[in-house]
Amino acid sequence: MRMRRKKHGAERIAACAEILIEQPQIPAISPQSYFSKEQPIHLEIGCGKGDFAVGMAAKYPDCNWIAMERVSDVACLALEKAMIAKDTRPDNLRFLIGDARNVAEWFPTHSVDCLYLNFSDPWPKKGYAKRRLTHKDFLELYRNVLTPGGMLKLKTDNEGLFDFSLEQFELCGLTVEWQTRDLHASEKNADNIMTEYERNFSEKGQVIYSAWVRF
Ligand SMILES: C[S@@+](CC[C@H](N)C(=O)[O-])C[C@H]1O[C@@H](n2cnc3c(N)ncnc32)[C@H](O)[C@@H]1O
Repeated sequence: MRMRRKKHGAERIAACAEILIEQPQIPAISPQSYFSKEQPIHLEIGCGKGDFAVGMAAKYPDCNWIAMERVSDVACLALEKAMIAKDTRPDNLRFLIGDARNVAEWFPTHSVDCLYLNFSDPWPKKGYAKRRLTHKDFLELYRNVLTPGGMLKLKTDNEGLFDFSLEQFELCGLTVEWQTRDLHASEKNADNIMTEYERNFSEKGQVIYSAWVRF
């Protein structure tokens, strides 16, 4: 997601400090410490402008939600979206600005119950396969932070990335518990919260691929 540099970005992010996890602690501390109530931890990596995380946190108040985004100007928009709902804003949502490569710096071993990858960049060129967020090297990072039996939930418009991801799950010995090549026509659609990319792609008639993978 390319964007023009946000004017006064640092100040705008600072104004959202109450919902931002500012930096990783060394060693990483339990993500429960960022919330008032201890509840299952759900982590979205690459949250973009935050539609999914804001929607899920409101829909599922019995879980604690953390949304991670690498690009600070994009994270700024997600933070502001969450802050706008000032009176109704869920207390179970936090953001962090960081790269998936460093997920273990932010989360201790076995501290995340469910991880979401929504419309991750497909990096279609063969030479860039290692950058895909479902490459086996990333899956091993997720295995470390997820609880044993934890779940990864993937959504994408990109068939190439979907097929690649299924191969990588198999390489890592992971069980695909559910998959579809048309999420919006599936039995899971009733509970689906759309992301910004998902809305744009499906308005253009693109089917959405999805898989739930048990670690
Ligand atoms: C194609 S956008 C999708 C945004 C959103 N999930 C949606 O569905 O609308 C992918 C997002 O993932 C972020 N991203 C890509 N690589 C990342 C990484 N290694 N760590 C964290 N975020 C990453 C990008 O900056 C971008 O905001």
